[in-house]
Formats: sequence, C-alpha cells, structure tokens
Amino acid sequence: MNQADHPVKEGMDSLVKTASASETSFAKVNFEFVPRMEEIAREAGALLMEFFHRRVKIEYKGEADLVTEADRTSEKLILERIRAHWPSHEVVGEEGARIETGSDYRWYVDPLDGTTNFAHGYPVFCVSLGLTHQGKRKAAVLYDPTRDELFAAERGTGAFLNERRIEVSKTPKLAQSLVSTGFPSHKRHRNPNIYFYHQLTLRSHGVRRAGSAALDLACVACGRFDAFWEFNLNAWDTTAGVLIVQEAGGRVTGFQGEELGITDRDVMASNGPLHEELLHEFQEIFSGRGLEPLPDPRQYRK
Ligand code: IPD
Ligand code: CA
Ligand code: CA
Repeated sequence: MNQADHPVKEGMDSLVKTASASETSFAKVNFEFVPRMEEIAREAGALLMEFFHRRVKIEYKGEADLVTEADRTSEKLILERIRAHWPSHEVVGEEGARIETGSDYRWYVDPLDGTTNFAHGYPVFCVSLGLTHQGKRKAAVLYDPTRDELFAAERGTGAFLNERRIEVSKTPKLAQSLVSTGFPSHKRHRNPNIYFYHQLTLRSHGVRRAGSAALDLACVACGRFDAFWEFNLNAWDTTAGVLIVQEAGGRVTGFQGEELGITDRDVMASNGPLHEELLHEFQEIFSGRGLEPLPDPRQYRK
C-alpha cells in the first residue's frame, strides 16, 4: 500500500483539528444548555463506568437486545436531572422515560448507546443527550466515558470535542474515505444493510462497524470517519449526533438526500463533499447493483 492510497487526512496530525484563531473559543461561546448537559452526561458516564467495571448483570429483552441494569439506572439519573433543571420540558428516553407537557422543548435521551458492546465488555459506548425546540435540533452532548471525550454543540455555535473546535474531514472521494455503519440488534434478517456494507467496502478504504451510532456520528463530526449511514435508527440514537455533525460543517440527510426530520430513521451523514457520491452509490444499490453472487466459500480453498 503506498502513501497515495492512504493519504494522511489534512490536519489530522493530531486527533482533533484545532480552530483558526478567528473562531470563538469554547469558553467564549454563550451556550444556553451545554454546560448543564455536560454535567449530566459526565455524571451518567461515571455511573456507566462503575457498572462496566463490576461485571454487569445481563438481561435479555426481545430476540437479542441486551439490556443492562446500567441502561435503566443511567436513564433514571438523567431524567431526574432534566426534571430538576427544566421541569416544563418534554422527555423521550430509550428505556421508557416519557414526559409530555406540551412544551416546545423535547429531549431525546439514550442513556447508553452501545449496549451490546457494554454488555460484552467492549469499551465503545456513550451517553447521548439531544434537545429539540419546536421540532428542530437545538443542543447536543455526547459523552464517551471510556476515553473521557465530550462532544457538544448548540445550533449556530459550531461543534466541540473536549472544548476544542472540531470540523468534518475534507476527503473528496469515496475511494479515499473511511466510513462506518451499524446493524440493529434485533430483526436483523429484515435489514438489507449487508449489501450496502459489501458495496461500500469495495469502494472505500473500509467500513467500520463499531456498535454505537451516536459515536459513529461524533466520529464523522471530528473527521475520524468521512461518512456514516444506518437503517432504522431512533431519535434517541441520532438527535445529538446529527446536530454535532451539522455544526462541525457536515451534511446529514435521508438516503435520497432529503432533509432528515427528528424521527426519520434512515440516516446518511458525511463530511459534505462525499455526500452526492454516496447518495449515487445508494441509488445504484437500491436499484439492484451488487446482487450478483459472492465468491463461493466452497471454492475458496480449491
Ligand atoms: C444501538 C447502537 C448500534 C446501532 C443500533 C442501535 P443501543 O443502540 O447505536 O450502533 O447499530 O441500531 O440500536 O441499543 O446500543 O442503544
Ligand atoms: Ca441507541
Ligand atoms: Ca441505548
């Protein structure tokens, strides 16, 4: 593999790109929600780490959806904190939290995104807090307690990782990109994503499948991944991550390039320059490209 095949991404000599001097620093941004959200996400993250270090008691919900005590305890804590700080706001949490008040503000909470990883002791998971106002994404915090990485944004502020400004990559072509996707933990037989995974694997530097949609989006925002897509996600998986990608300069749509509503389930996020090429790939795959038989494993050793 030569250098031309794997060019170092511009500005990626450190993990996070730094802001130009003219951009407002984190300390000077007049955030309305992020500071309190950060406190809540860090508290929930610390709690998850306690469970992670003890061996978690695994329960089974549905076919293969691993639910841990940690999911529920984390959601309970987050719900209590939201109610204490913003008593009039609505809340939708993955583990069942529902507050309906008629407020213009609504939270989408994933108290532990990456539950399957967590349950198996694989340290890739996060807390995701997304806030919407009148149906538009307003504020977002994602906290990865395993790396102590906190991603944050409010509409119009730009996006930050540990208080340093982040931007999406500039990778112009799929052939030079590292992308990511995910698969659901249940009803997998009804998901066509394996075809997309296969085709994109052939056309990029690789497709990662790390098991936390929220962190995948965060990785697009800070340029580690050039794009991400997934079928059938929920608003608690996406609300925070989508805003962080947008505020980092990226583009997020549905699979046909349409604007992504809060509860839309099929998500494509990219650095922007790659988006049209990715949409075109999807169109081709939806039309049946790549349905030809794969190499026959029975022939492989012959
Ligand atoms: C899951 C993760 C995973 C994605 C699944 C989600 P959970 O959320 O984000 O990466 O592929 O579709 O359901 O269950 O770990 O909160
Ligand atoms: Ca999730
Ligand atoms: Ca979850």
